[in-house]
Amino acid sequence: MLTHTEIKKLIGLTLAEGESRPVQIKGWVRTKRGNKQVAFIALNDGSCVQTIQVVADLNAPAFPEDLMKRITTGACLCVNGRLVPSMGKGQSVEIQADSIDVLGEADPEVYPLQKKGHSLEFLREIAHLRPRTNTFGAVLRLRHEMAYALHTFYHERGFYYLHTPLITASDCEGAGEMFQVTTLPLNQLPMKDGKIDYSQDFFGRQTSLTVSGQLEGELGAMALSKIYTFGPTFRAENSNTPRHLAEFWMNEPEMAFYEIEDNMDLAEEFLKYLTTYALEHCGDDLRFLNDMYDKELISRLEGVLKTRFERLTYTQAVDILKSSGAKFEFKVDWGTDLQSEHERYLVEKHFKRPVILTDYPKDIKAFYMKQNDDGKTVRGMDVLFPQIGEIIGGSQREENLDKLQRRIQELHIPDKDMWWYLDTRRFGSAPHSGFGLGFERLLLFITGMTNIRDVIPFPRYPQNAEF
Ligand code: 4AD
Ligand code: MG
Repeated sequence: MLTHTEIKKLIGLTLAEGESRPVQIKGWVRTKRGNKQVAFIALNDGSCVQTIQVVADLNAPAFPEDLMKRITTGACLCVNGRLVPSMGKGQSVEIQADSIDVLGEADPEVYPLQKKGHSLEFLREIAHLRPRTNTFGAVLRLRHEMAYALHTFYHERGFYYLHTPLITASDCEGAGEMFQVTTLPLNQLPMKDGKIDYSQDFFGRQTSLTVSGQLEGELGAMALSKIYTFGPTFRAENSNTPRHLAEFWMNEPEMAFYEIEDNMDLAEEFLKYLTTYALEHCGDDLRFLNDMYDKELISRLEGVLKTRFERLTYTQAVDILKSSGAKFEFKVDWGTDLQSEHERYLVEKHFKRPVILTDYPKDIKAFYMKQNDDGKTVRGMDVLFPQIGEIIGGSQREENLDKLQRRIQELHIPDKDMWWYLDTRRFGSAPHSGFGLGFERLLLFITGMTNIRDVIPFPRYPQNAEF
């Protein structure tokens, strides 16, 4: 019995003339063409972007007409045959089939991916089948490779992977954009003194899905020195943009003894490491996406590696934007949050390289950021990338208990819920820093896709959670 081989292992092999090897492959039909004598079937198993050509001699008794009729685009086959050098263009080897089993048919009348060249919008409506397209195959393989590279990067540098909870009672970013988690009967909520009685809820308190693992990440860093989290994150912000998801993956490293400069150095090294990894290990998929969607993709990735990221303060950036003479939809003024049009102007037009902005006004950033002596700004940092805008957000953290408590009070954050977090500042406090990388934003950059819904297998966004 032959054991089945991934197509990736066969593509690119070279055989001498007349040489052949027995093989078994399994995969899905991309195309079938030919004539009365011979059929050429392009088979893909998702192990790589390429298909392998299967040649069936229709004069052979193994390939009767009723079998060949069942071999249509989308059908799943098991092919036994011989790997031989190919005469045809564009491939070094092909498979001369001895037998073909149809494992699963795909009725051409109703199979939605019958034709090539569907729009990304259409494919979003059939997200359950789109992994079978070349585009999503490439994106999903790159997604895997980037996750692997991310773990490798941290592991090699002595960071520990900390698993932070998805269900939480605190709103790390303080934006109030949380999905609530409850087992209370929604049609008959228990009430006490005119309010919902959460003491009867599963956890005995009000809980939500997390918007960030940072607060728990800080607890880990205050013991293990260097940790990172990597997991799903949830935000109920009703933003229907090509850069927001309601469920996205975030990676958050948190480091004791790092100041903001160390944090910036790590972020820059990390993004360059991931980009280098993609260029070195994912060439076929990148070339496919480069040719199909974005002719500048590979040169943009290479460009990021060559330059040092530009570092400047929010205040300097606002001055540049105000004196740029550029027309923006949203007006820029010191104190307002930058929109992605402003971020992209700085990166794509002004500096023509990635930018790290620091020292933001305290009122547009979260409570935990380290306060500068000017009383107006905090030691936050955002890394801005071409095409994307913000790809990373982070900061040095306020390690001083009094200052942090004062800020929590100013922002009316219920400090009875924060005692455990504040304990890190009560006991053995240390300077520390960290950041959050939006994994899908990274993938937008790496794949050249322009809509964040196309770089996660099953996107969650307003009005969409079917599959
Ligand atoms: O800037 P954010 O909100 O920072 C934090 O959550 C901090 N706790 C991180 C930290 O310091 N440990 O989010 C971090 C990153 C953003 O820069 C962006 O790339 C991504 O997460 N992000 C989103 N990605 C997709 N959809 C959304 N709705 C996102 N919101 C943020
Ligand atoms: Mg941010």
